[in-house]
Amino acid sequence: MSEPSVVRSVRSLSRMLDDERARGRSIGLVPTMGALHAGHASLVARAAGECDTVVVTVFVNPLQFDDPSDLAAYHRDLQTDLELAAAAGARVVFAPSVEEMYPGSAQPTATTMHVAGVSECLEGASRPGHFDGVATVVAKLFAMAGRCRAYFGEKDFQQLVVVRQLAGDLCLPVEVVGCPIVRDLDGLALSSRNARLGSEERRAALALHRALDAGIALLESGERRPGALRAAMVQVIEAEPLVQLDYAEVVDARRLQVPATASGELRFLVAAVVGGVRLIDNCGATVPAPATPGAERRRARPELVLADTAKAKEG
Ligand code: PAJ
Repeated sequence: MSEPSVVRSVRSLSRMLDDERARGRSIGLVPTMGALHAGHASLVARAAGECDTVVVTVFVNPLQFDDPSDLAAYHRDLQTDLELAAAAGARVVFAPSVEEMYPGSAQPTATTMHVAGVSECLEGASRPGHFDGVATVVAKLFAMAGRCRAYFGEKDFQQLVVVRQLAGDLCLPVEVVGCPIVRDLDGLALSSRNARLGSEERRAALALHRALDAGIALLESGERRPGALRAAMVQVIEAEPLVQLDYAEVVDARRLQVPATASGELRFLVAAVVGGVRLIDNCGATVPAPATPGAERRRARPELVLADTAKAKEG
């Protein structure tokens, strides 16, 4: 296993990937902010299994941090990231400076992205501007990389939905691939932020995963009222004194809106603060839509129309 080539400039990255495509090689892109762990490695390994050349981007994007102390505390260690990226199958690591990504200023470029709707609820409501920062940097990375598959974790489920919407709306030549959450053995979703938890806080943080389990278990028992499912999650979080709940919601997995009743493709999501560290987690569930009398009527209608037409012709 050799270390990946480190590319620092946008120009070199675009040229290198154009050359790869000209040689008939497909590109897998894995955008990250570094501090890589087994969750990131799973995306790189998936990309390496499906694409010829895998590029990991390592850029701590100032635009998406609503809290300056969170940005300052972000762990940076490129050498360790290179080793992990190489071990998982990356050939190239793109690690630009802030100046290279945002020439002239660390502040927004004149052009920024806003993905209406799906970016405004949940994390978007709690962290104003966060998804505009994510969408802006991801749009730039997609523009630099060109035609590729891009791999994102379901750990940040709303981010994945926002990025899919962005790529679709702008007709970007990027296939967005969602990858499952990697967890520790005890169920805690891996996150670069877990390193900031003390041992008591880390134990308390398991309440997020337990809350999701409680919500899913209630759904499986037949409960379909989103309010009741939400209450089951809230109860678990509130029983843990070291954890302050931000939100717990059940939403439809595409639009991220709370449905009238829980059916179809759902996502249970929680966000909470543990010892000053903000953590998120989520879990998917699918409830087949019931065959309601209304649905029967809708299906029957075209036949009625046809029958009416036939009668009209006969007459
Ligand atoms: P970062 O937090 O470094 O995450 C990079 C990618 O790794 C994201 O797609 C994230 O969902 C995925 N990931 C993180 N933990 C995971 C886990 N436990 N299991 C599976 N996947 C996991 O997300 C960002 O960076 C940034 O917002 C970025 C998209 C790079 C834009 O700056």
